[in-house]
Amino acid sequence: MKFPDLPMYAGFQRPGRFEADVRDIEVVQGAIPHDLDGAFYRVGPDPQFPPLLGTDIPLNGDGMVSMFRFENGRAHFRNRWVRTPKFIAEREAGEPLFGAYRNPFTDDPRVANVCGGTANTNVLWHGGKLLALKEDSHPVEIDPITLDTIGPWSYDGALTSETATAHPKIDPRTGSLVFFGYAARGEATNDIAYYEADASGNIVFEKWFEAPYSAMLHDFGVTENYLIFPLFPLVSDLQRLKDGHPYFEWNPEKPMYLGVVRRRDPEAKINWYVGPARFASHTMNAFEQDGKLHVDMPVGDACVFPFFPEINGADFDPDAAVPYVSRWTIDLTSPSTDFSLNRLCDIPGEFPRIDERSSTLGYRYGFVCLQETVQDPTLPGSFTGLRFSKLGRVDHRTGELTTHYVGDASATQEPIFVPRPNSVDEGDGYLLVLVNRYAEMRSDLLILDAQRLDEEPVATLALPLRLRNGLHSTWISGEDLTAAEADHSRLERTHAHTAGRNL
Ligand SMILES: [Fe+2]
Repeated sequence: MKFPDLPMYAGFQRPGRFEADVRDIEVVQGAIPHDLDGAFYRVGPDPQFPPLLGTDIPLNGDGMVSMFRFENGRAHFRNRWVRTPKFIAEREAGEPLFGAYRNPFTDDPRVANVCGGTANTNVLWHGGKLLALKEDSHPVEIDPITLDTIGPWSYDGALTSETATAHPKIDPRTGSLVFFGYAARGEATNDIAYYEADASGNIVFEKWFEAPYSAMLHDFGVTENYLIFPLFPLVSDLQRLKDGHPYFEWNPEKPMYLGVVRRRDPEAKINWYVGPARFASHTMNAFEQDGKLHVDMPVGDACVFPFFPEINGADFDPDAAVPYVSRWTIDLTSPSTDFSLNRLCDIPGEFPRIDERSSTLGYRYGFVCLQETVQDPTLPGSFTGLRFSKLGRVDHRTGELTTHYVGDASATQEPIFVPRPNSVDEGDGYLLVLVNRYAEMRSDLLILDAQRLDEEPVATLALPLRLRNGLHSTWISGEDLTAAEADHSRLERTHAHTAGRNL
């Protein structure tokens, strides 16, 4: 086997394809704070096999989960692939069986009834389960201690949608989980299924809607009383899929929509607010204020993914695609279907995160990867070609931007905010972030003080290995991990999934 000579498989993005444990990661600067107790999990695509069709999109690799366990001023690393049904089928065959991204018409007939989800986009800790997520399929449960796969999770059959978003939100007031599936009745359908699960992980509310067209619905906004579905014209069409087109194509001639739904209301209708085409991937936060809904996202004028081409054949425009943290505002007291859009940060950025104790609520701080205007074009970009050389903290109250430059020939991956134990103030905690060191072809993990972002890191952990660009991440507290360690049923369930298979 050999991976094709394509940039997406070269340099820092060369497939990692290793599963490893590193005890006591080397600390080359500063010291790991003793009050940092818990584990940081992140996931990203890492293909098990070269692409069946000779090429692929970078977002279609098999999900590889990394775990950094912090305890007593030490950190330990673990890396495991998620054993999805796709991964197992291909490993047992010893070859790739799935074709183009989300295109069953290109798959090997041997996997006609096998789910092609890769579980490569996000990891979620909720209801005592660690779930690896991909928006085209059901979550896959993994063991938070061993990272062994327990298996696909359908909420005991209550998840009737064929899909579940990789960007669910936890309501910090109740611990409930708010999520949805798009293409909920199958590929390229325009059905949206909305769910809420209680703090124990039981689905307690379900409501279905239809979108004006079938398109990527990657993330959404959740406030105390509303959901906002941002629908951009990165459209999908079953016939075009059969004809061999990519799953998504950018159609700037269609409008964009913000779909607003009242939460937990069995009679709720979806109200679509409409505007000219824009594109955004991720939500920083959403909140209500004086009869208005605000949704903060990095927004560009065009689709940011070069591998989902314009439907009319126009060339990808990287300048139009550059995203800036911006705020959509909807006035619920107005009969108008308009909304406004205002820029909140003048440096392009993506991968926004917050102190999740303020999720769904009015908030002050947003953390985001930033792309400088002056950059070394020889450095590899992220999945979209953006090159993140700084981390930023946007203060929505003062408008101030504080930044941290991660070093020459380096780029950041998505940061995660970890609250300082027993703290109550928003933004009091640590920012953990993986940094690509291109000159050394190696990864560092930085621990930053989120309130002193411009200062040198609290600690720099030097990994003896390279972690190619990942996507999203989560944190589990030491207390929750101790409880998980005591839960032996998870090991029995893991064994039931993998019994008899040498995977
Ligand atoms: Fe995402």
